[in-house]
Amino acid sequence: MKKGMRGVTCACVAALAMAGCQSDKGAGDNMSGGNEPSVVVKPFGKTRDGKLVHLYTLTGAGGVVMDVIDYGGKVVRLYTPDRTGVKTDITLGFNDVAGYEEQEKYFGSLIGRYGNRIANGTFTLDGKRYTLPLNNEPGGLPCSLHGGDKGFDATVWESEPLSEGRTVGVKFTLSSPDGDQGYPGKLDVTVCYWLTPGNVWRIEYEAVTDKATPVNLTQHVYFNFKGEAEGTILDHELTLFADHMTPVNKGLIPTGQIAPVKGTPFDFTTPWEIGARIKADDEQLRFGGGYDHNWVLNSQTGRLAPAAAVFEKTTGRYMEVWTTEPGIQFYCGNFLTDKVPSKQAGKNLCHRGGLALETQHYPDSPNHPDFPSTILRPGAVYKTVTEYRFGVK
Ligand code: BGC
Repeated sequence: MKKGMRGVTCACVAALAMAGCQSDKGAGDNMSGGNEPSVVVKPFGKTRDGKLVHLYTLTGAGGVVMDVIDYGGKVVRLYTPDRTGVKTDITLGFNDVAGYEEQEKYFGSLIGRYGNRIANGTFTLDGKRYTLPLNNEPGGLPCSLHGGDKGFDATVWESEPLSEGRTVGVKFTLSSPDGDQGYPGKLDVTVCYWLTPGNVWRIEYEAVTDKATPVNLTQHVYFNFKGEAEGTILDHELTLFADHMTPVNKGLIPTGQIAPVKGTPFDFTTPWEIGARIKADDEQLRFGGGYDHNWVLNSQTGRLAPAAAVFEKTTGRYMEVWTTEPGIQFYCGNFLTDKVPSKQAGKNLCHRGGLALETQHYPDSPNHPDFPSTILRPGAVYKTVTEYRFGVK
């Protein structure tokens, strides 16, 4: 956090107004409460290498409350009301920094420079070959996952509180040096989290570079709408606004195909329980150990558009995901196990105890010239927006 920062004005709001994003007014309004919006900052602890981590508690005017830390921009807790008004923490995370360092570093985290996988940890750009850390090996095929060994998830960002009318937030910035985790160019990144009176968590990403480089920023929050450590998400109903997906090989790297989902267990164009077809005899499900794939969103305009919706019938919790991005990774926690402790004392998580909906460009795009480009060049500004809109039904 920057010293002496209070009530800072937000460059992000102005920037996004120019990007022509839709207003979020009205979204989730069925939940509005009469809370006084606020941002409270407290120490959260220290990283292994002694860096101080701050906790921001954002209380939204509509009743949603978020705890966020400047270590990886991680969402530590997110309380939303159920249909009777009872608020529960619906995200996976840990009560201290060590939990993230020792257990699951991507829980609730910002991801960069490149969300998801790059095959063999290498790509060629403008005739030059770059090599990235190999930190993942599904199906025995090595790749670079989520920005490398020390990605943006494992970095303490500069941070400052934001407020604009009755919307509150936190702004994160970092400067990733030329060559960081093998990526070319100095990349300056700004991410703003906003919590609106309509119970929308809006994320605004911006980046500039001094050399051409791939950029694919995302957020890796896991939700369980029954509540953290309240069993699996297999009974959650999912809709994906996507008629196509990108099939993968056994290393979870896209083959390059854009496949129609119609008639397959990947068709979520109408709401389906996540568990309904997860055991189907399907090679893609076998490769992923369940759902762990990129869907090609129907909207490819770069304007804010619906990407996904999730409904949990026992609590009534409902969420829509809107994004300017062309893709979304739906991951249903296939690698999660009951070895991971819950934030609640004496409890553990379980296999498929959370789901992630990561808005993004497609995995391995630097090696697929036919995919929408992830290359940011000097002079251009990377700008994307994603909104998680919370409500009940
Ligand atoms: C990927 C999974 C990976 C997980 C790690 C997701 O974005 O799709 O394959 O295991 O991140 O947390």
